[in-house]
Amino acid sequence: MRKNIVAGNWKMNCDLPMTQDLIAKIITELPDTLNCELMVAPSHPFLYAAFNASLETPIEVIAQNVSQHENGAFTGEVSIDMLQSVGIQTVIIGHSERRNTFLESDQELAEKAKAAIENGMRVIFCIGEHLEQRKTGNHFETVTAQIEKGLFDLTAKEWKQIVLAYEPVWAIGTGETASPEQAQEMHEHIRKFVADKYGDKTAQNVSILYGGSVKSSNATEIFAKPDVDGGLIGGASLDATSFIDIAKAF
Ligand code: 13P
Repeated sequence: MRKNIVAGNWKMNCDLPMTQDLIAKIITELPDTLNCELMVAPSHPFLYAAFNASLETPIEVIAQNVSQHENGAFTGEVSIDMLQSVGIQTVIIGHSERRNTFLESDQELAEKAKAAIENGMRVIFCIGEHLEQRKTGNHFETVTAQIEKGLFDLTAKEWKQIVLAYEPVWAIGTGETASPEQAQEMHEHIRKFVADKYGDKTAQNVSILYGGSVKSSNATEIFAKPDVDGGLIGGASLDATSFIDIAKAF
C-alpha cells in the first residue's frame, strides 16, 4: 500500500540554532497520531543534529541532495555514504532548483537516483513543468519525460524505494497553487504512465506528493484527491504550527 507523506523541504533557510529550534517546535506540536509519515530536510551541515533530535519521534530527517559519486575529488559534494553515516536514509533528488539553478541534467539525476537506490536509500524524485510548458499544453509530456529519463532504468523492485513529487515550477514559492483538479489530473497521468511501464501494482504502490505553495489552508482539498498522497512543503514547513497543520490535513 502506498503511504501518505508530508515532507518539509527547508531549502537554504536554517542555520544550526534555527534547525534545532524548528525541529524542537515540531516535536512539541506533534499530535498523538498522524495519518502520514512526517519528514524534514535540513541543510547538510545540520543533518546529524536534526537526526539526533528526531530519535524516538516519528519524524524522519532526510537530505536535500546527494552526489552520484562514491567518493574522491568532488569538492563541495556530499556522498551517499556520508549521509548514511549520520543516519539519513531518504534523499530528495531532482528538485526544480537543482535542475534549473544548478543545471543538473536528466542523466545526472538518473545516476543519482540509481546510486541512492542501489545503496538502499529511499528517493523523493521531483518532476514538474515550467509555466510556458503548461501554457503550450506540453506539461504532461514534460513530466513523463523527466520520469522516463530519470527512473525508467530501475527495476520494479527498485521502484519500491521511489516516491515521486510533482512540483510545477510556476507554483513553487509563488503563492500560486495548482488547483486540486490540476494536481489530480497530473498525478493520475503519472500513475498511468508508471503502470504502462511497470504494471498496476508498482503504480498503485508509489506515493506521489504534490509540491508548490501548499499551506494549511489548501492542504485538505489537495490531499483529498485520490492520486495525491501527500505534499513536499517549502515555505510553510518553516513554521512548526503550519507544518503540523498541513500534516493533520490527512
Ligand atoms: P513552496 O511550498 O515554498 O512553494 O516550495 C515548494 C517546494 O519547492 C518544496 O520542495
